[in-house]
Amino acid sequence: MSKEKGQDLKPMERPQLGEIDGILLAKSTCDEWSRIQNFQAKPDDLLICTYPKAGTTWIQEIVDMIQQEGDLVKCQRAPLNHRHPFIEWARPPQPSGIDQAEAMPSPRILKTHLPVQLLPRSFWEQNCKFLYVARNAKDCMVSYFHFQRMSKLVPDPGTWDEYFEAFMAGKVGWGPWYDHVKGWWKAKDTHRVLFLFYENIKKDPKREIQKVMQFVGKQLNEATLDKIVHHTSFEVMKDNPMANRAGVPITVMDQSISPFMRKGTVGDWKNHFTVAQNERFNEDYKKKMADTTLTFSMEL
Ligand code: A3P
Repeated sequence: MSKEKGQDLKPMERPQLGEIDGILLAKSTCDEWSRIQNFQAKPDDLLICTYPKAGTTWIQEIVDMIQQEGDLVKCQRAPLNHRHPFIEWARPPQPSGIDQAEAMPSPRILKTHLPVQLLPRSFWEQNCKFLYVARNAKDCMVSYFHFQRMSKLVPDPGTWDEYFEAFMAGKVGWGPWYDHVKGWWKAKDTHRVLFLFYENIKKDPKREIQKVMQFVGKQLNEATLDKIVHHTSFEVMKDNPMANRAGVPITVMDQSISPFMRKGTVGDWKNHFTVAQNERFNEDYKKKMADTTLTFSMEL
């Protein structure tokens, strides 16, 4: 192998994190912050909102398949991460999420992991539609840990025990899971938020996909709906190069460490949490979630 090629294969350096109002975000995102905050939303924007690893890719494919009325060829036009601009994404010299959103014709479908308090104000002012997917904290933690092991776009997670503590303390990218889900749960009382649960989509995808169809104002026949259910199953999406990040270089995401489409199940936390960790987690969870009506399924 030539020296040059060897250098190409060197894993990229992991990014540093910065902080905005106590929330950890990529430093490159913090550097773009005033532009992100001043982003001009439009009334017909639909914003897909999630905490990291809650099923963003899954709901993106569902929404796109609905928008394209089940046309698989249209859904293969680009990798998912290029179909819906990620508004707080910034990694110069690549075009930022804001650049991509500004270049996109309306009606736009955009993506964010931001907690409610950091969302650009224009989304609220324009009364946009928000599609939020929540996933139980334990499975989110496990999924995020494995993602941070394989993706050089985020910091190294350290050991599982270290990561367990960091996640509970909210010292991970996009901040605490607890405030994120509670904030968006509350927002649904005053804004146009369709709040879905990963566990429910897993349990009854047809029913949940129908809710999304209604929310985005599309009427599709039964056969198309069945096609969408099939095409967005974990097994099919795992082999879909436009969904599974197959095009991302190994130096950026090393899928031999952990695949991007990892397990796609509910309850994998049981294979990671020790009995002591589970007890500690539950006690802390009860306190942090005492002020909300929001509840989650930890298994199916
Ligand atoms: P696991 O790591 O538990 O497997 P995000 O897209 O927000 O990064 O979330 C990634 C998580 O969603 C991963 O969870 C991934 O496997 C899971 N996922 C992606 N597509 C899915 C699908 N069609 N069905 C179920 N889970 C899916």
